[in-house]
Amino acid sequence: MSKSTNITWHETTITKQDRRMKNGHGSCVIWFTGLSGSGKSTIANAVSNELFQRGISEYVLDGDNIRHGINKDLGFSEHDRMENIRRIGEIAKLFVDSGKIVTTAFISPFRSDRRQVRELFEEGEFIEVFISCPLEECERRDPKQLYAKARRGEIKDFTGIDSPYEEPEQAEITIHSHLLSVDEAVAQVLQYLKEKNTI
Ligand code: ADX
Repeated sequence: MSKSTNITWHETTITKQDRRMKNGHGSCVIWFTGLSGSGKSTIANAVSNELFQRGISEYVLDGDNIRHGINKDLGFSEHDRMENIRRIGEIAKLFVDSGKIVTTAFISPFRSDRRQVRELFEEGEFIEVFISCPLEECERRDPKQLYAKARRGEIKDFTGIDSPYEEPEQAEITIHSHLLSVDEAVAQVLQYLKEKNTI
C-alpha cells in the first residue's frame, strides 16, 4: 500500500536505451535464489567479476551486505523477508535502468515474492537462476555455522530447517552447484547472456 500522495512520475531525459547504447550491451538482473550455503554469493560475485573483466558495467547486490545497511530494520519473518525482497527488487530495477547487469544473491525463499519482483521488469530483463544444492550439502558446508545454530534452536525461522524454501518452477537457468565448479557455473550464465544477445 502506497502512503505517498500528490507525487508525479517524471520521465528522465536520458533513457535506459540510451545508456545501453552507450555501454554497448544490454542490462538485466540475474536473480540468484537458493538455500543459505548453496553458493549464490560466490557464483554471483564470480559472474560479476567475469563481466567486469570483459568491460561490462555490472554490480552485485548481496543479502548479507544489504542487510547491514538499507534493510537493517528487517529480520527473517515471512513479512520481513517479503519486504526485503520487495526493496531489493526496486533497487535492482534502478540498476537495470542505469544500464548495468546486476547480480543479486538473496535466498528469496518464496515464489510469490520472486514473482512480484519479476513483474517489475520488462520481458527478458529478469533472469531467475536457481542454485540447486541439496540441503545436506549446504548443511555440511555450513560456512557461517548457522545451520548448526539453527539445529540447536539458537536461530529461529532458518530457511531449510524451520522455514520453507520454495523451489522455482520456471527458472531461466538452474545451476547444480554441488556438481559444477564455480567456473562452469559462470560459463553457464554467460552462455545464456550471449544467447539472449545481452552481451
Ligand atoms: S531472504 O530470505 O530475506 O532472502 P537474505 O538472503 O536476505 O534472506 O539473507 C540470508 C542470510 O542471512 C543467510 O545467508 C544467513 O547468513 C543470514 N541469516 C540469518 N538468520 C537467518 C534465517 N533465519 N534464515 C536464513 N538466513 C539467515
